[in-house]
Amino acid sequence: MECLTFPKQNAFAAKYKKRRDEMSFFELIQQRRSVRKYQSKPVEQEKVALIIEAVLRAPSSRSLNPWEFIVVDNQDTIKKLAAAKEHGSSFLAGAPLAIVVCADPKKCDVWIEDTSIATTFISLAAESLRLGNCWVQIRERMHSAEKTSEAFVRDVLGIPEDVKVESIVAIGYPDERKEGHHKEELQFEKVFANEYGSVCN
Ligand SMILES: Cc1cc2nc3c(=O)[nH]c(=O)nc-3n(C[C@H](O)[C@H](O)[C@H](O)COP(=O)(O)O)c2cc1C
Repeated sequence: MECLTFPKQNAFAAKYKKRRDEMSFFELIQQRRSVRKYQSKPVEQEKVALIIEAVLRAPSSRSLNPWEFIVVDNQDTIKKLAAAKEHGSSFLAGAPLAIVVCADPKKCDVWIEDTSIATTFISLAAESLRLGNCWVQIRERMHSAEKTSEAFVRDVLGIPEDVKVESIVAIGYPDERKEGHHKEELQFEKVFANEYGSVCN
């Protein structure tokens, strides 16, 4: 990748606005699914820039913004990252783009919440650009019996010891179609009114 640029006026954003207006937030989340198969087509730089702009707008506790992001489009590096976990990361090898979400825990005690929100922002921004995507959990996962996924990712990307790795988001043009979750399947029984256990009808 050439160095990422974030133009003040993103012509693509303006052009895209018309299409984005076609899908409301609720339509977007009604259709949203984790997509793990991607076309080899690269993700355009202007779309990467919009996703990064979106994540930098994410809320964080006390606005401390403890997060940092590594945008990876080097296919050799992505293939290495695909081996980060014993299970659940191999599909990353087929993604043209991966965004690694890290944080400095010294900057904020609730960095896990902040990085989780950031990961969600990346995912929803990608979704809104019609890009398939899936969260790959790194924190608290193992690469092998001896090595954590975090240590593995740290070695691949040269991340300093005091920076934690929460997740990687795999992104690419979808090469599989999934239906959104049907409303009848949603667990409304987990929603209570006014007191715990009081199920809403
Ligand atoms: C915190 C979190 C961690 C996840 N980690 C992984 C992962 O490591 N590998 C993976 O393939 N999917 C991962 N997922 C995706 C979930 O498996 C997926 O969201 C879930 O199966 C529901 O499917 P849906 O997203 O299509 O609704 C993760 C999702 C979340 C929210």
